Amino acid sequence: MRILSGIQPSGVLHIGNYFGMMQPAIALQAEGEAFYFIADYHALTSLQDPKALREHSRGVALDCLACGLDPERAALFRQSDVPQVTELAWILSTVTPMGLLERCHSYKDKTARGLPASAGLFTYPVLMAADILIYDSDVVPVGKDQKQHLEVTRDIAVKINETFGEVFKLPEPRIQTSTGVVPGLDGQKMSKSYGNTLDIFGEEKETRKRVMSIVTDSTPVEAAKDPESSVIFQLFSLLAGDAQRQEMRDAFLRGGTGYGEFKKRLFAALWDYFAAMRARRAEILAQPDYIDDVLAQGAQRANQVADAVMCRVREAVGL
Ligand code: ADP
Ligand code: TRP
Repeated sequence: MRILSGIQPSGVLHIGNYFGMMQPAIALQAEGEAFYFIADYHALTSLQDPKALREHSRGVALDCLACGLDPERAALFRQSDVPQVTELAWILSTVTPMGLLERCHSYKDKTARGLPASAGLFTYPVLMAADILIYDSDVVPVGKDQKQHLEVTRDIAVKINETFGEVFKLPEPRIQTSTGVVPGLDGQKMSKSYGNTLDIFGEEKETRKRVMSIVTDSTPVEAAKDPESSVIFQLFSLLAGDAQRQEMRDAFLRGGTGYGEFKKRLFAALWDYFAAMRARRAEILAQPDYIDDVLAQGAQRANQVADAVMCRVREAVGL
């Protein structure tokens, strides 16, 4: 079974990315041959700063390795180290109906948030389909927001198969639903673009300050509080064990503890949860060539598969 996923290096990773995408993808690496890549071509649709793009790409690789991605099991590489994927995207675009792309939410959402309405942003799902199909992927773990892109990928693969014969396998999405959407400091979805994140590897003082700034209602200290609707409790639930979670829930319902105290417990749980990963990250940073070596090795494995699939595609379409 080949597992494939990608993440855009458009900023620093936050705990929404971790629980929504990285943790499930890392858990899956034990179940098959995993290919994970840093979607730097895609990031160009929103980040046009070469220095920042390069830094974020290495940063995402570092964070994935620190969080447990095992380069012996999973190939980790940059999307742009397999440029054949852009050739495939072109071929796919010639059978992709405009209407299919016009229906995509992410284009509408992103332009509504102020991203320039470029052709690249519009055809983003075609490049994503190429990412998936070029590795004969079986399973694609992604967050809920990417579900439509997986449907588009399958539609494009079917269209190619109908037109040119059986060229592609149809990939299955593996949508992470157990975590749901991780809320940010203001209660909206945690997202880089909303400035409401807790970063996985944020600096200690800043992270504490951010936890303490979580927006709460004005229930007095003595009063009972509703755990389910509280961002503090929701985040704590992701980070703490069952017993600690039950303890906090009881304290919410009992009253007598203020939100400030709950925030302190949340910070402690957060800091503790990522402690071993922070240590691993420091170890990796102490080996200057490690990240580049991992990415080069990953690119080699990815290129082998991509070259073979592209031979098949070129033959099928008459190039
Ligand atoms: P952002 O919204 O911060 O820009 P991305 O869109 O780059 O994040 O998302 C990268 C991955 O992380 C996707 O698979 C997405 O589903 C997941 N993800 C992002 N934010 C959250 C969140 N708040 N809760 C759960 N998963 C998330
Ligand atoms: N669009 C994905 C995101 O924003 C990143 C991505 C690009 C991806 N290509 C992919 C994810 C292929 C899975 C498979 O999160």
